[in-house]
Amino acid sequence: MLVVEDEVGKVCGYCDIDGREGALNSGLPPRPYLSDLAVCSKMQRQGVATKLVESCEEICRSWGHSYLYLKVDKGNRAAFELYEKLGYTMLQPDFDEKNQMLLGKPLAKNTVSTEKIANEAEVLTAPYSE
Ligand SMILES: CC(C)(COP(=O)(O)OP(=O)(O)OC[C@H]1O[C@@H](n2cnc3c(N)ncnc32)[C@H](O)[C@@H]1OP(=O)(O)O)[C@@H](O)C(=O)NCCC(=O)NCCS
Repeated sequence: MLVVEDEVGKVCGYCDIDGREGALNSGLPPRPYLSDLAVCSKMQRQGVATKLVESCEEICRSWGHSYLYLKVDKGNRAAFELYEKLGYTMLQPDFDEKNQMLLGKPLAKNTVSTEKIANEAEVLTAPYSE
């Protein structure tokens, strides 16, 4: 679980990330997925949820996954707008009997291309000439 505290150490936001593999045909969402995101009302619209989601994405990448999933209630406009802004797209509009949608986002790799490294190395080692 990821937790954000305010300046006096009071929890003002949290979320969870689950990296286990989902059992086939279990009815569970595919793993990894983010869940239980919430920010206390006085701290909303200050980027706390954005930070939490981005931290989950980093963790997800560090586990070697290239896709993050989450579920959101159909009527939850605030959450849907947040996820949409962060690049999540609808995968299944009627995911489960709880009136939830399944969203997901492909995660870019945190690596520099080997071609770029090779080019930069070439520049660094090139002999000086006028
Ligand atoms: C949804 C929730 C987590 C957003 O938390 P937050 O810290 O306020 O979100 P952020 O500040 O990172 O918002 C980033 C963007 O998301 C969108 N957004 C967030 N709250 C919104 C709202 N109430 N209405 C419309 N868009 C909203 C906006 O695009 C916002 O960018 P902006 O402030 O520059 O316009 C928070 O409202 C909350 O805890 N709600 C109750 C629990 C909940 O619904 N959790 C989601 C479960 S799936």
